[in-house]
Amino acid sequence: MRRFHLVCILLLVGGFLFCAWDVAWAAAETRPILTPKPGPAPRINGPSVQGCRPGRPFLYRIPATGARPIEFSAQGLPEELALDPATGIITGTTPAAPGEYVLTLVAENAEGKAERPLKVIVGDRLALTPPMGWNSWYIHYNRVTEQHMRNAADAMIASGMADFGYQYVNCDDCWTKHRNDKPYRDAQGNLLTNAKFPDIKGMVDYIHSKGLKAGTYTSPGPWTCAGYVGAGGHEEQDAQKIAEWGFDFLKYDWCSYGSYEHNQDLKVLQKPYALMGNLLKQANRDIVLNLCQYGMGDVWKWGAEVGGHCWRTTHDLGLMAANQLPSFYHAGLSNARHWQYVKPGGWNDPDYILIGTVGDARTGGPGAATSLTPDEQYSYMSMWCLMASPLIFSGDMARLDEFTLNVLCNAEVLAVDQDSLGKQARIVRQNDDELVLAKPMEDGSLAVGLFNLSAKPREISASWTDLGLTGKQIPRDLWRQKDLGATEGDYRAEVPPHGVMLVRLRGVEK
Ligand code: GLA
Repeated sequence: MRRFHLVCILLLVGGFLFCAWDVAWAAAETRPILTPKPGPAPRINGPSVQGCRPGRPFLYRIPATGARPIEFSAQGLPEELALDPATGIITGTTPAAPGEYVLTLVAENAEGKAERPLKVIVGDRLALTPPMGWNSWYIHYNRVTEQHMRNAADAMIASGMADFGYQYVNCDDCWTKHRNDKPYRDAQGNLLTNAKFPDIKGMVDYIHSKGLKAGTYTSPGPWTCAGYVGAGGHEEQDAQKIAEWGFDFLKYDWCSYGSYEHNQDLKVLQKPYALMGNLLKQANRDIVLNLCQYGMGDVWKWGAEVGGHCWRTTHDLGLMAANQLPSFYHAGLSNARHWQYVKPGGWNDPDYILIGTVGDARTGGPGAATSLTPDEQYSYMSMWCLMASPLIFSGDMARLDEFTLNVLCNAEVLAVDQDSLGKQARIVRQNDDELVLAKPMEDGSLAVGLFNLSAKPREISASWTDLGLTGKQIPRDLWRQKDLGATEGDYRAEVPPHGVMLVRLRGVEK
C-alpha cells in the first residue's frame, strides 16, 4: 500500500513537473515554428549540381536528414573518388577529363531509403549554386580565434545545419597580424598569422575532416578593414599560401586598396579582383572567390568576368540603419534590382543572414538576441532564397536555438535558393506596401514571395498575367511544407506586417 502511494505521489509530482515544464516552454518559445521537423526516414538535401575543376581535391559531405545511423552509397562515382558509407563524405581528386558525371546518391536507414541525382560538372566553373555556410564576422569580430572556427565546424554538424547543405566555415577579418604587431611576414615574405591562429593548417584540416569546407578573408590593399595585414603587393605569395593551407573560399575585401589608386575608374575597380581571380584559377585547388567591394562600379555587371563567384552588392548590412523597415529589407530591396545579372557560378551577395544571437557591428560588442520579429526573419530567409543569394549565417554557432534553426533549415525553402536553374527572382511588383518576387525553378514551377512591407496585415495578390502563368496551379506553402487548394487566375494571401507568404506554384497536369 505504502509503495502504491509512493508511485502515485511520484506520478503526480512527475505529472506536475511535466506540466510546469510545458508551460515554461510555451512561455519561452512564443515564436511560431513553421518548419515541420524532418522525419526519421532519410532525405537527401542540397544542390543537384556541383562544379569543379579537373584534377583538384574534391570534398562533399552528402547533406541528409533522418535517424542515424544512415548508410550512404553512390552509383556512378568516378573511380578517382571514394565515399565513406558511415559519414557520407566523398573525397578524392576530380577526374582529369572535363565532362559531366551523373551520380545517384543513396541514403538508407532502418526507416527507409532516399535517392537523389548529383551531377558533378568537371570544367572551369565553381559555385554552380549559391555557397551556404557560416562566417565569423558578426559574432566574433576581432576576437575571432582558431578555436571558434573549429567549434563552428562542430556546431554545423551537431546542430544539423550541415544536413541541410551548409558547408563553408569561413573566417572573416582579423586572423593575420595587426598593423601594430610586427613582423607581418617571415624572411621569405610568407604571411604570418596572429597569436590567435597558432595552427591554421591544422584548423583547415580539422574543418575538412568533418566533410566541411574552409573559408578565409583578406584585402587587395595593404590593410584589411579592421587594420590587419592584407595581400597588397604580395598577392601571388598569399594566394599560394591560402591554397597550400587548404582553403576553399576567399572573401576579398577592398578596404584600403583606395590608398594605391586615386580614382575609381572601372579599370581600377576591376584590377585587384582580376589579379586575384587569375591567381586562384591557377591554384591547385578549387577556391570560390567572393568579391567584397560593396557594389562599386556596378560589380554585378562584371564580377564573373574577373573570376568572382559572388559579389557583395551593398554596404555592410550590419551597419545599415533601419527605418520603418529593418535593415535586411534595405539590403534585400537594393539587391533585388540586379536580378538579370545572376547565373550559375555568379551570384549577387546581399550580405549575411543576421539572426539568432548576433553582435552589434557598430561596437563590435558581444552577441544579443536579434530584434527582428519572427515574421521578419521568415521574410529575410525567403527573400535571400528567392534572390539565389549566398546563404551565410553570421550569428553565434554556440547559441543556436530551435527557432533560429527552423528559419535556417527548411529543406523546401533552401531548395529555392539552391535550384540548379540558377535564376534570381524577378521583381513582379514593388511599392511602399508590397513586394512580389518570382523565381523560375528548373522543374518549371515558380517560387513566389508575397512580402508585406507595411506595418499592418494585408492581403497581397499576384495574378497569372503578372506571373506569366496560365491555367490551374497548386500553390505549395514552402514554410509549412503543405499543398494548398488549386487556384486559377491569381494567388492571394493575408500576410502579416513585414512578413511573407512563400509559395511554389506548380501547374496542374491535364
Ligand atoms: C568590411 C566587410 C565586412 C567585414 C569587415 C571586416 O566592412 O564589408 O563584411 O568583412 O569589413 O573588417
